[in-house]
Amino acid sequence: MDYDIKNKSLAKQGKLRIEWAGREMPVIKLIKKRFSREKPFKGIRISGCLHITTETANLGLALQEGGADLVLCASNPLSTQDDAAAALVDYGIPTFAIKGENNKTYYQHITSALKHKPNLTVDDGADLVSTVHQERKSLISNIIGGTEETTTGIIRLKNMAEDGALKYPIIAVNDAQTKHFFDNRYGTGQSTVDGITRATNILWAGKKVVVCGYGWCGRGIAQRAQGLGAQVIITEVNPIRALEAAMDDYQVMPLAEAAKVGDVFITVTGNRSVIDQSHFAKLKDGAILANSGHFNVEINIPALERLAKKKRQVRPFVEEYSLVDGRRIFLLGEGRLINLAAAEGHPASVMDMSFANQALALEHLVKNKGKLKPGVYPVPEQIDREIGRLKLKAMNINIDTLTREQKKYLESWEAGT
Ligand SMILES: NC(=O)c1ccc[n+]([C@@H]2O[C@H](COP(=O)([O-])OP(=O)(O)OC[C@H]3O[C@@H](n4cnc5c(N)ncnc54)[C@H](O)[C@@H]3O)[C@@H](O)[C@H]2O)c1
Repeated sequence: MDYDIKNKSLAKQGKLRIEWAGREMPVIKLIKKRFSREKPFKGIRISGCLHITTETANLGLALQEGGADLVLCASNPLSTQDDAAAALVDYGIPTFAIKGENNKTYYQHITSALKHKPNLTVDDGADLVSTVHQERKSLISNIIGGTEETTTGIIRLKNMAEDGALKYPIIAVNDAQTKHFFDNRYGTGQSTVDGITRATNILWAGKKVVVCGYGWCGRGIAQRAQGLGAQVIITEVNPIRALEAAMDDYQVMPLAEAAKVGDVFITVTGNRSVIDQSHFAKLKDGAILANSGHFNVEINIPALERLAKKKRQVRPFVEEYSLVDGRRIFLLGEGRLINLAAAEGHPASVMDMSFANQALALEHLVKNKGKLKPGVYPVPEQIDREIGRLKLKAMNINIDTLTREQKKYLESWEAGT
């Protein structure tokens, strides 16, 4: 079996951690049990480009149990958990991922995962799909469809579809309610604060924390930072989101102003050069910069490199940039997803729902083989609702049901006051 990981002897530790994450993934466990009986992926080859974590391992094992012939590679050079990668290889899932790999190895790993000639692709950020369409076009005729995990990937795929460049159907897992309501908000919220804490050990209470972008992720980060006592400032470009932030009790201002007062800056916009050269000029001495958006382009790192006269690593995942005027700026995790670089990514409990969407969306693609034209599709609503129902059940939470009278009322229009 071909694979490329850091150290195979980490497998024992990885298996224990995968088992630990699995305890918080009851929905995936139920799906795995059904897949084991029904084998929906018998004879199906899947290439997955995902963060190689213990939660991804639980998804991988569920797909494998469903008969899939699965190969995995990393969706980010810094997000791999080397012990999880070793355990995956031990479980018979070829994995190409090493934490800290350089860009060249990162893309080599994607190419290796594509040698599998997949029938289904699973992406987190659309690097796999984009490689297929740009460099391995011959694979397209074998591909039934794919899934995409994150906001940034979906933006790229929709742009591809608009250009007429997308050649097979993709299900936008991120857009399921049981994904972004929980994963992006509570998962990114908690794990981003966790990553910054692990990297720096700062006290959040009393800090001025600037969150750039008040989308699903930004809302979660702001809420958790405020919960720890930080004074949160939001920067936005969308007037409605800015209004929402203001009414959620945060200060809202342009980044050019926030740059002068912030202690910690966190970007989660999915956009590029959000913290740019003009902002570096205004930052206070000791300002901390972190990104939790998908790619490492939200902070203009090349500009920071140009401005710095000296750079040194002062702690794991903390780089100190000394500027000519004597100010020091601290960049965390090379500007890559800080929750995965310096912490363990989202807690398993939210990945349970995100990956339940992945598993069921892949099954849906197989069931509808040949019926879906190239394009970006939502997760079918019944799948989304079923995942919500199963998660509530696993959490021992019961809810009310509509009475017959209420159902009829909601479907009618005749009755008013
Ligand atoms: N760290 C993680 O584990 C994780 C998890 C999920 C999503 N993501 C990534 O996080 C990013 C955000 O995802 P989301 O679901 O919150 O997206 P979203 O579309 O809900 O929110 C992004 C927000 O950023 C704002 N924005 C864009 N450019 C801006 C700028 N220059 N200044 C200020 N605000 C700006 C947009 O108006 C929008 O409100 C994406 O790259 C996504 O892929 C990361």
